[in-house]
Amino acid sequence: MPGTTRVGGLKTISIMYLQRRNRILRATPSVRSLVAETTLTPVDFIAPLFIDEGENSHTEISSMPGYFRNSLNVTVKEVRELYGIGIRSVLLFVKAADEVKDNTGKEAWNPEGLMQRSIREIKQAVPEMVVMTDVALDPYSVYGHDGIVKDGEIMNDETVEALVQMSISHAEAGADFVAPSDMMDGRIGAIREALEHNGYTRTGIMAYSAKYASCFYGPFRDALDSAPGFGDKKTYQMDYANRSEAIRETLADVEEGADIVMVKPAMAYLDIIREVKNRVDVPVSAYHVSGEYAMIKAAARMGWLNEEKAILESLTSIKRAGADLIATYFARDAVRLLSR
Ligand code: PBG
Repeated sequence: MPGTTRVGGLKTISIMYLQRRNRILRATPSVRSLVAETTLTPVDFIAPLFIDEGENSHTEISSMPGYFRNSLNVTVKEVRELYGIGIRSVLLFVKAADEVKDNTGKEAWNPEGLMQRSIREIKQAVPEMVVMTDVALDPYSVYGHDGIVKDGEIMNDETVEALVQMSISHAEAGADFVAPSDMMDGRIGAIREALEHNGYTRTGIMAYSAKYASCFYGPFRDALDSAPGFGDKKTYQMDYANRSEAIRETLADVEEGADIVMVKPAMAYLDIIREVKNRVDVPVSAYHVSGEYAMIKAAARMGWLNEEKAILESLTSIKRAGADLIATYFARDAVRLLSR
């Protein structure tokens, strides 16, 4: 309430009396830390890893400066380091050789395939690390699509059968969670049932439930050489204009047996993350995707953004929106920034 008072018997000045002064809780770094509603910790992060055939290779991805595709022996070393700094989960992607690509995806369940060898070696080297694996046909598809193609169409049910075989082979190799990123209908239920039938009762499913057809996946497709050869992914990935569809997709995945659901990408979809979080009672993850990484890197390189601040603000906003877990190429940087 405003009031008046005499100062030195001469001047009249106006004084504010406020019931509540919100700035009190922002006054110092210590006070702010006491009342912070969201805090990031290393166990919030899932580190995506790109794996290459070969030995001792370490290839920078041109549209993801500072991020690499590594051969398995280098990846194992990296997983050890990530575990050492407190990260507890990795999400594996492999770059399949052109010779093994076809329209059946059969390399995806080759027991001696790069993914299967990677799972085994990583679990052997760092058994405590939670290993999650991408399940979709795009790295193995001559067409760069997530499913089997017939007459220019991405076939749903045939693809689900392939994804089931792929998931079983990842479980057999020792994956802790399979992560179907393909957006075919009914795949979570089919994968869950197959895991049950084959005795893999400890293998989890992290479902990419609300995955949008997004231009922000561009750099990832450079990393794995998996860009679609024709058309786009809009008949299976979601239209970014839609919100209720995301809820429908997510509730269906939970009902079919998903242990963790995911919203992807993250920053342009914070509203979806929040809404999903309010609607489900399983952990929610969000994927801060390759294009989101590239934007921050590019602006920082131009001197237009402070990279470290942009990383922490972005990841905090994703967690604040409702993500319990965040898959991010900044996992390692974020842990470093948080520890000082
Ligand atoms: C493959 C897959 C993609 C991503 C994760 N799994 C690309 C796509 O759907 O085209 C994107 C990850 C990223 O951009 O960081 N199904």
